[in-house]
Amino acid sequence: MKELQSRYPVSPRAQASSHIDAAAYETMYRQSIEQPDAFWAQQAEKFIDWYQPWQQVSSVNFKESQVSWFAGGKLNVSYNCIDRHLAKKANDIAVIFEGDEPGDDDKVTYQQLHDHVCRFANLLKQRGVKKGDRVCIYMPMIPEVGYAMLACARIGAVHSVVFGGFSTESIKARVLDADCRVVITADESVRGGKHIPLKANVDEALKSCPNVHSVIVVERTGGDIHWNPALDVKYKEAVAQLPAECEPEQMDAEDPLFVLYTSGSTGKPKGVLHTCGGYLLYAAMTHKYVFDYQDGEIYWCTADAGWVTGHSYIFYGPLANGATTLVFEGVPTYPDAGRFWQVCEKHKVNVFYTAPTALRALMGLGDSLVEQADLSSIRLLGTVGEPINPEAWHWYYEIVGKENCPIVDTWWQTETGGILLTSLPGAVDMKPGATGKPFFGIEPAIFDKEGNELEGEAEGLLVMKGSWPGQMRTVYGDHQRFYDTYLSQYPGNYFTGDGAKRDADGFYWITGRVDDVLNVSGHRLGTAEIESALVLHPAVAEAAVVGYPHDIKGQGIYAYVTLMGSASESDALQAQLTEFVAKELGRFAKPDHIQWAPGLPKTRSGKIMRRILRKIAENEMENLGDTSTLADPSVVDHLVTNRIVK
Ligand code: WT7
Repeated sequence: MKELQSRYPVSPRAQASSHIDAAAYETMYRQSIEQPDAFWAQQAEKFIDWYQPWQQVSSVNFKESQVSWFAGGKLNVSYNCIDRHLAKKANDIAVIFEGDEPGDDDKVTYQQLHDHVCRFANLLKQRGVKKGDRVCIYMPMIPEVGYAMLACARIGAVHSVVFGGFSTESIKARVLDADCRVVITADESVRGGKHIPLKANVDEALKSCPNVHSVIVVERTGGDIHWNPALDVKYKEAVAQLPAECEPEQMDAEDPLFVLYTSGSTGKPKGVLHTCGGYLLYAAMTHKYVFDYQDGEIYWCTADAGWVTGHSYIFYGPLANGATTLVFEGVPTYPDAGRFWQVCEKHKVNVFYTAPTALRALMGLGDSLVEQADLSSIRLLGTVGEPINPEAWHWYYEIVGKENCPIVDTWWQTETGGILLTSLPGAVDMKPGATGKPFFGIEPAIFDKEGNELEGEAEGLLVMKGSWPGQMRTVYGDHQRFYDTYLSQYPGNYFTGDGAKRDADGFYWITGRVDDVLNVSGHRLGTAEIESALVLHPAVAEAAVVGYPHDIKGQGIYAYVTLMGSASESDALQAQLTEFVAKELGRFAKPDHIQWAPGLPKTRSGKIMRRILRKIAENEMENLGDTSTLADPSVVDHLVTNRIVK
């Protein structure tokens, strides 16, 4: 490979074709910061069809946990994603489906999407779902997951999608927290040729969720499932009886659209709540400008609908823009590690958006699988989820993009609703590893721990000084937690939980989470969640989980486990605990290493000193810091001696 440059100027091709060039970026950015309400009002008229105009563009007071955009404005998200395109695009493809097995594919036009969504919406109504009710969606990556989300949006129900890789404990906690009354699922999902028992996981979780009165089951594999006639509804049979018309509910811009649970540093996952108007505007606008989406292009984001990336950049953003969006059920390595590139060739993908962890896994397997595919349709590449290391960036740029496609590294969070930091392809140069500059209306700042803003070139904590329409509005059922988690640390500012540095050219570089949140293969996981799962096992007295650097996953999971007096350490028990976490939480949350810990390093007040555990897991024994404040400093020696050398 060629030598990596530290900066790549905007290519003439990107500049010529893009919606926003460097001059437009400067002008629009300045306007968006100096006159935010005027700027956003203009964008809201451009991107969204409203039944009724808003009364107030924005009303924001972070000190009082108040964030509101376009209040009084009336719209329907599913109307904006479907109906308004029908006049011109009824027969254009809205969704391309590519199944786990090559050859299993499908195309859904905007008209067909309309009909599916209306029927699904009518089914929800038939089961008693009303505006404001919460519906849990636990599905494979098939078009029906999108129909389900849009059907909720159509009737004003609030969806809560639970990632299909989660299992019983996670489903249960999420269904209970939002008091969902209906669950939408499938018999099984298929990934990499393996079947995953979604319905069985739901059955197990619902044993503890007495308020759920309906489970709508989409048939994906036809696999054996337990049928409970009191709850279960066969999707296909039920919708066949229902009309393909359903009047969209007129929603206030500030009515909730969805809740999506995300992991925090403490306690149970938070239900991040997004609303209809601001969220849709922000998702649509960022989709158009960041990916420079041009009408008629094929756009593929490889995320799962269970994460916010799937919400904003597989369904809501692209469909609001009338795009063709590709929904992929499988994994990058099945049937072989060339699958991504084969799918790009097959469907002539123009814009490809994926996670660095996938690139790291694939680049290790050589270039020939990429080179065998005709990737000439690809015009733009994107990454999301974690910092991209320069080697992976280089490989992506040169081997996949043939040095002819800009890469947009997009930084954002479940809480932000859409991309806040990135390089716009026609306007901002690329620096491998940097996540570029702020999107319109975004005012990032770097603070030190004491809350002083650092100017110019600086490294510290990443905060946002103002609001933007896609910002979360609350933590479902716990508004105080919204304030405590994001708004209390630096009053008047939104705290991201990330560290970052800003270089002399104003580019941002994310240095990673500064809290107890892990990023494992681009999946966000709280150490507390894994610990809670471990202590559910009868042999476990206590557990402490930390992350350590992992070549492919970004971070690996390292668990310290103290056993009950009655249990004894064994390899078999270790394997059992790993499987136990997989069963409770999901396979992606499995610890990579479990170390037996007869004692954990605690302060005299009983607080676990994670700093020390992290250093041991990272093999950095010389930097353990001050251990004299520990209740029993000798436990550290035991952990150091018995550490797992990776
Ligand atoms: C955390 C948010 C929103 C997309 C998927 C993840 C990390 C996200 C980047 C990036 C460096 C990134 C941050 C952030 N992150 N994108 N381009 N470069 N880090 O959403 O699960 O809410 O996680 O992912 O640490 O806080 P999420």
